Amino acid sequence: MQKAWLKWTLLGVPALIAAGCATAPDEATTRQIAEKMVREDFTAPAPALLKRLEQDRSQQICSKIAGAKLTQEEAAEVVKLARASIKYPASGKLVGDWKIGDKLAHDGAGDRIQGGRLEKRKQNGGLCQNCHGLAPGEINVGNVGPSLTGYGVQRGNSEAIAKLTYERIYNAWAYAPCSNMPRLGATGHLTPEQITHMVAYLIDPQSPINKR
Ligand code: HEC
Repeated sequence: MQKAWLKWTLLGVPALIAAGCATAPDEATTRQIAEKMVREDFTAPAPALLKRLEQDRSQQICSKIAGAKLTQEEAAEVVKLARASIKYPASGKLVGDWKIGDKLAHDGAGDRIQGGRLEKRKQNGGLCQNCHGLAPGEINVGNVGPSLTGYGVQRGNSEAIAKLTYERIYNAWAYAPCSNMPRLGATGHLTPEQITHMVAYLIDPQSPINKR
């Protein structure tokens, strides 16, 4: 008697799992359900915070379910949208002041949620330290992104490098679609002028990042 029970259980569990899989909703429906759950559970008081739940087209493409691969067409669309988002500073000067850039690279404040509210700040920090190695010997740095130590030593400080660096910081997805590098200029976290200081910090030979 006990054996029969065991047999049916063993046979029944995989059958139930198989039935479950067969009726799992498709990707679009799964996304709708997940978005609804997030909307209903995330009850921030400030409209500015709720706005963050609305994904733009690139985020929608990049948030594929269960790690599904980007198609070539999707990657191309993300790159195209990213390129179109890039704005340059009114001055036309892409290389600012590395000293201001150094401060910003180590400043992780701005756009954070504290006590259910968006923190108020005149200028946001750059957050680079959270993810990148910076000046040689700095140990309090993250490794989500590649180390930027010696960035200018390796690449030089030509106009072409300044432009590439500016664009990568403004919207990293113009070069690496859907990467984990935040789109710092495109999302409005950093201003174009602040990004010119970041460029200087990375490529100026005097910057601590390029010292030994
Ligand atoms: C949340 C993590 C994160 C933060 C914060 C971040 N980055 Fe990145 N960054 C990455 C990742 C991941 C990559 C690699 C993928 C890519 O290129 O987009 C990267 C790539 C880069 C590259 C290209 C590196 C190369 O070798 O060509 C540069 C330049 C860069 N980041 C600069 C910055 C600067 C400057 C800041 C701060 C203003 C910053 N990043 C903030 C994650 C981050």
